[in-house]
Amino acid sequence: MNIRSDIPLAPYTTFMIGGPADFFCVVSSEEELVAMIRRAHDGKLPVFILGKGSNILVADEGFRGIVIKNEIRGMEFGSEDNGVVCVTVGAGETWDDLVAETVRRNLHGIENLAAIPGTVGAAPVQNIGAYGVEIASTLVSVRVLDTTTLAYVEFSNKECQFAYRDSRFKHEKGRYVIVQVTLRLVKGGKTDIGYKDLKDFFTGKNESPGIKEVRDAVIGIRGNKLPDWKRIGTAGSFFKNPIISKNQFEKLSAQYPGLPGYPTKDAQLIKVPLGWILDNICEAKGLRMGPVGTYEKQALVIVAQPGSSAAAVINFQNELIRRVKERTGIQVEREVEWVG
Ligand code: EPU
Repeated sequence: MNIRSDIPLAPYTTFMIGGPADFFCVVSSEEELVAMIRRAHDGKLPVFILGKGSNILVADEGFRGIVIKNEIRGMEFGSEDNGVVCVTVGAGETWDDLVAETVRRNLHGIENLAAIPGTVGAAPVQNIGAYGVEIASTLVSVRVLDTTTLAYVEFSNKECQFAYRDSRFKHEKGRYVIVQVTLRLVKGGKTDIGYKDLKDFFTGKNESPGIKEVRDAVIGIRGNKLPDWKRIGTAGSFFKNPIISKNQFEKLSAQYPGLPGYPTKDAQLIKVPLGWILDNICEAKGLRMGPVGTYEKQALVIVAQPGSSAAAVINFQNELIRRVKERTGIQVEREVEWVG
């Protein structure tokens, strides 16, 4: 394991922003990971575990500690049992490669999550979700390193405490490093096209599309709505969609007719699309402040010129937070993780 020092982090993030890490290394096995965590503890160094850097914003000052890039690989499909196939995947695999492989094998479960940038290991942390599906709906278990005991343990789906864009890994930040994820998929299973964009896409064309057709549709829809992170600095949705009380929702929708609201498990709570609010209430779609702005086709997505600064992104973030608070009373929460 080669530990390098003073490594710029911007090239390791999709925002393409951020200063250097004091130390940086890549691990590709469980043994290497635990050895590196032990060394960091000995040197009293803060640790940040990096995947593909697609949901982080790194401070201009960089990170005073060691960044460990998790490249633990492997993808193992179990045998089929009553139409069910489990797949166990190393955290360092690319999420979309996994989706492509499951679709190739005609396995249903994560085709709606196609084209999401990032690694398999990062996916459960924020319970990635798109087009009506979350990773929580197929996840059986995760294998993690507990950095306080230096032992590897497994958590069941329930133990991960999944919620909208949330899991225990966000609350017990830094304690666990995910090294492996096991998902349960269904051979030839029925696809889920209830989400508005997918329904619109298939209506009148094909009412019961197959797994591959749904993946292709998702890739097309994302391509039309979201910026190409390979060319434009972004980390996708910058904030979470707010979950507000039914009462507040009713007041807001009286004031702003057309405000969409999605029911949650708790009948008293409604999820509202912040993209709609930024666009229709805050005049913030395509808004720019210097090198940073919202994407012209999706106001929830912040885009920045590669090599601009985290300070400029935070400045812009604060302006959006201020506008939403002033016009709706909603306090928004960032989805993207701050590293610094
Ligand atoms: N809308 C607008 N204007 C906008 C943006 C959205 O009016 O500028 C409206 C849309 O017309 C729609 C509603 O707001 O009625 C929701 O928009 P969309 O379907 O695009 O989804 P979203 O809530 O903005 C979430 C996820 C995305 C995911 C999509 C599709 C979060 C924080 N974001 O966005 O995830 O791809 O749903 O399922 O939950 C990401 O996490 O980086 C991400 C892109």
